[in-house]
Amino acid sequence: MILTPACHIQFALQLILQRLFFFAAFLPFHLGAAEPTTIIVQTDKPGAHINPAMWGVFFEDINFGADGGLYAELVKNRGFEFPDSLMGWSKLAPGIAKGHLSIHDENPFNSANQHYLQIESESNVPFGVANEGFRGMGIRKGEAYDFSAQIRKVTGSPVLRLELYSAQGALLDSVRLTELPSEWKKVTTILHPNETDSRAKLYVLLEGKGTVDFDMISLFPEHTWKNRPGGLRADMVQMLADLKPGFVRFPGGCIVEGSELDRRYQWKKTIGAVEERALVINRWNYEFLHRPAPDYFQSFGLGFFEFFQMCEDIGAEPLPILNCGMACQFNSGQLCPLDQLDTYIRDALDLIEFANGPALTTWGAKRAAMGHLESFHLKMIGIGNEQWDEQYIERYAKFHKALKAKYPDIQLISSAGPLPDDRRFKFAWPKLRELKADIVDEHCYANPEWFFKNTHRYDDYDSNGPKVFMGEYAAQSDKVVSVKNRNNLECALAEAAYMTGLERNAAVVRMASYAPLFAHVDAWQWTPNLIWTDNLRVFGTPNYYVQQLFSRNRGDVVLPLKCSLDSETDSKLYASAVKDEGKNEVILKLINPTPESHEVAIQLEGAQSVKAAAIAIVLQGKKLIDENSLGGPTNTSPHSISIQINLPNFHWSVPAFAMAVLRVPL
Ligand code: AHR
Repeated sequence: MILTPACHIQFALQLILQRLFFFAAFLPFHLGAAEPTTIIVQTDKPGAHINPAMWGVFFEDINFGADGGLYAELVKNRGFEFPDSLMGWSKLAPGIAKGHLSIHDENPFNSANQHYLQIESESNVPFGVANEGFRGMGIRKGEAYDFSAQIRKVTGSPVLRLELYSAQGALLDSVRLTELPSEWKKVTTILHPNETDSRAKLYVLLEGKGTVDFDMISLFPEHTWKNRPGGLRADMVQMLADLKPGFVRFPGGCIVEGSELDRRYQWKKTIGAVEERALVINRWNYEFLHRPAPDYFQSFGLGFFEFFQMCEDIGAEPLPILNCGMACQFNSGQLCPLDQLDTYIRDALDLIEFANGPALTTWGAKRAAMGHLESFHLKMIGIGNEQWDEQYIERYAKFHKALKAKYPDIQLISSAGPLPDDRRFKFAWPKLRELKADIVDEHCYANPEWFFKNTHRYDDYDSNGPKVFMGEYAAQSDKVVSVKNRNNLECALAEAAYMTGLERNAAVVRMASYAPLFAHVDAWQWTPNLIWTDNLRVFGTPNYYVQQLFSRNRGDVVLPLKCSLDSETDSKLYASAVKDEGKNEVILKLINPTPESHEVAIQLEGAQSVKAAAIAIVLQGKKLIDENSLGGPTNTSPHSISIQINLPNFHWSVPAFAMAVLRVPL
């Protein structure tokens, strides 16, 4: 009997073999075009174990992913450290109000946060500033908002008036604070808006004559993820938790590299007190001239401690990616000389100690001081993001040597460059193989056809060599970096088809993550993205639901498939099978991107009987251009149906334009 490893065989040899042997094997089922496609799942021949952390997420502070996104701070430029110190702030001098605003840096409340705002009110009419938030502030009626600021009264006895206004100018809440401190002190109060608004503003006013200094003016919802003060947006983290990701890759992405080395991501500067985390301009601020974001900076309120904590909360393995002494090769490509790489290698070694070391160690103590005595159980680290050529290999080799010497069990992720099959890719792989790299990070942004055509990409990879991390991929409905790219069903199904190939090759492919993760509808630089938000809402794209269907139906071992499709042209069905050993269930994933439903005759070879409790989870649309939106967040989202199966051999119809997951208890 011919064993075709799966549907959609690409290679000529396989096609010939299929044709030669198929008819003998499947003659009863294959009498004409209308006959069902036969899929034999070899339930008694389990293959490779699937990495429990196989399906993860890729987080980068792009598209207002962290500041203005996951990090729930509502005030932009709270520390007045933007190069344009008053960016995000505007003067409020209603009517005959008189006064001055100025930025100072002498005697700051914290020398790491040098600049502060001085408001001088010269009349009895309220005078001060408004903060516009991140394209407005999302606030909800009935919720509480923690205001805090470092305050120092310099002259007079003015009253501090805090007001929340809607975009339409309605007053939503107001608080007056008297007796301001004469020395720097953190002053706090709570605001309770009486309406919901996604573009509210915060007013900070002085009532009466006098001068007051302000720094770290902050407004946070009390309702954050796990209600942590100064925490993360609960609805956004929930979307991640709902994915049940195996890992979270952070903090990127090109942001790791920086356009120049001094703008690279340095994890040590993102831990400890938030007011001491030095601001860095976000590279996505200026990267795309067609999508400028001049107010995009990294406050690092979401820093490495918070990343580790979030991973722990949602049960995902942390996967930090570190700079390897190279700035973004699409930008300056600046290099740290090889003989000066120690600082970078030190950062990697210290990060492992920060994550895992006992509280008695230097860096373990810093983690413990932030409230996490226990280890974060870090198991892997990425060396560089999307790097290439000899400069990368020689730097990676140095990291590899030093890290393996001290932490042989930590898995190292290395880079194969930005494309899945170009000169840089072909240069990197043999070198990394020679270096005995653990896991190689491959990236691919391409049109849906590429994904449909490459479902067999990993069939020929050597499972004894380095493993693969498909660390960034997404189907582009137009082309890479085009603003016309859409998160539509066609792209989602193309990714799903491709993922069947990753899953079938779990012996080689250890991990995969779609990229990028988040985008704010009013502040994005890159599209497509897995999850879109505004200041109050969030929705998952069809692509999100594909990721969810894979990660929630991961299984433990791959089950080999034999399939009766006999040519590439008519094999518009993509499949993979795994077994959930705990539940003793066969999980079959079927993707049909065509406008016709597709009949399949499924044979669970080796199964004696099935329980009558099978379910099909179906993600289906009406058209390939279907999308979700803020107004229709679940237009294209999965639903479950019970299916009647009495025998290990059964027929089913895979709906048109759909991904289906069949779970059959044995
Ligand atoms: O995902 C967006 C960008 O694409 C990443 O920052 C980079 O690694 C890749 O080029």
